[in-house]
Amino acid sequence: MCGIVGYSGKQNSSKIVLEGLKTLEYRGYDSWGIAVQDKNQIKIFKEIGEIKTKLSMLPLPKTSCAIGHTRWATHGGVTMTNAHPHISTTKDFILAQNGIVENYSTLKKMLEKKKYTFKTQTDTEVIVRLIEQQTKKDETFRDSVRKAFNMLEGRNTIIVLDSKEDNHIIAVKNGSPLALGIGKDELFLASDALAFTKYTKDVVFFDNLDLIEIKGNKFKIYDSKTGKEKKYKITKLNSKVEDISKGKYDHFMLKEILEQQDTILKAVNYKLDDLKPLIDIIKKAKRIYITGAGTAGFASGQIAYYLRTISNIDVLDVRPYDFASYFPILKKDDLIIAVSQSGETADTIEVLEYAKELGCTIASIINVEGSTIHRMSDLPYLIHAGPEICVASTKVFTSQCVFGYLLAKSMVGEYTGAREEVESLSSGLREYFTEKVFNHIKKLVRSIKNRNHFFILGKEQNSYIALEGALKIKEISYKHFEGFSAGELKHGVIALIEKGTPVFTIISDDMCSKDLLSATEEVRARGAYTVGVGDSKFRKEECFNFFLPVVKSKELSALSNVVVFQLLSYFLAFSLGNSVDKPRNLAKSVTVK
Ligand code: G6P
Repeated sequence: MCGIVGYSGKQNSSKIVLEGLKTLEYRGYDSWGIAVQDKNQIKIFKEIGEIKTKLSMLPLPKTSCAIGHTRWATHGGVTMTNAHPHISTTKDFILAQNGIVENYSTLKKMLEKKKYTFKTQTDTEVIVRLIEQQTKKDETFRDSVRKAFNMLEGRNTIIVLDSKEDNHIIAVKNGSPLALGIGKDELFLASDALAFTKYTKDVVFFDNLDLIEIKGNKFKIYDSKTGKEKKYKITKLNSKVEDISKGKYDHFMLKEILEQQDTILKAVNYKLDDLKPLIDIIKKAKRIYITGAGTAGFASGQIAYYLRTISNIDVLDVRPYDFASYFPILKKDDLIIAVSQSGETADTIEVLEYAKELGCTIASIINVEGSTIHRMSDLPYLIHAGPEICVASTKVFTSQCVFGYLLAKSMVGEYTGAREEVESLSSGLREYFTEKVFNHIKKLVRSIKNRNHFFILGKEQNSYIALEGALKIKEISYKHFEGFSAGELKHGVIALIEKGTPVFTIISDDMCSKDLLSATEEVRARGAYTVGVGDSKFRKEECFNFFLPVVKSKELSALSNVVVFQLLSYFLAFSLGNSVDKPRNLAKSVTVK
């Protein structure tokens, strides 16, 4: 959460930083700010909310060095005062942070006793004052930043712009991501390399506790604990410079939903030989865990379902934020499969850090090349969905699931069949995405948009789809949607059904269909407005007031079903006038706990 950008070089620094911040806005959009170094002075511009100001309107001079920050508020409300970056009392340096200073209140009290004063409610201002305190003692500014940083607890990455020396930036990474881009006579720093891959593919990824010092177009890396210089490795990124514009669409979300016809194919574009190392370790491992948070957590559940039902592999699906209770039973012969879009989710990384220390093998199903989870993994598998900009994840979910499906089928000698099934889903989606289908969904939206409580029933292959469908709609429509297994209905949820309560039933042509029809009858008998989502063979069933047919698929019907909830979520949020791509209070990359 929060995005950091820095630049030193021949181009207009505020242009580069502004572009970078726009790319990183998915990390938080409560406020943003840019600070440029201008003849040993610092000029700042900050704004609340999303980035609306264009470069031509930015009241900042053209200079060769700047830093910027886009905020997802942790400590202190969304105000101009709390917006980063935060300047020092003497105005000779300015700082931005991504993370949380866990011991900030102890440090603040200590500093207040020494007569330091605070203007903001942020934990970040504490770092500024700590550096001020250090500058009175240390020989170099680098040492002051380093020593102040060493007093912090938590996962935090900082960037500091120094006004006293030309083009001087210092950054320290711990927990939250940071990458350096090396261009010709220019250097870029950013929380995500995507912010600068348009200019360079040569990237240095940092280890925790690395300190990076930029002076002009030169840089050095130090160990922030010892202050000793460190060697570094330049990685050449492979991924193409991806299109991150909305194209002809009003929102990234719709663009990304429609892209699924192609992205699911990219996710399974692996040869059987590429999967072999993972298959071998799955066969050998004592126990297999799969973990992910949010939508990636539901993808983990779906992948575990495919491994269990297709290849008889027992996979324990555990959310990373609840993993600590498994630590005592985790063994070095265990395999952990991490599922993540960004590869930067703090909870997931913490589990992997623990497992790595123990010697477990780590595999991952991820979207972002060079991300922390990618680099921590012994067996990383990229799903190549391209940048996913909308906070609500769509194409990455289906890509992760089809990769899991391919893996499960490959384990039982059905690699080719799996590829064919994904291809068939892809062509089905190509035909499905039509105005006619959209209008049918919009018709339903019109009739339900004023209701506030909704339920989704699924079962077996559609259990996680019910959860993901409900999450998708909650995220951007802010309506209370609850998904659960149909088996739970009579154990409590049915008490909430009133006249007109919309209840969605996900129904595939499988062994659960009869149970789902009965469950639908039961809620209908209590006045529910019933909506079927699934195989068109059920469209005429009397229990449904409305039916949304999906793309036919033999083994991937769960994924056909989820696409309908993605579209429903989009059209509902749109009709409510909500901010579709940047829903309130959320951020795409949850890098703090
Ligand atoms: C946030 C995002 C979700 C995502 C989850 C995990 O909640 O909004 O879309 O599923 O984080 O993120 P990851 O990057 O690990 O998939």
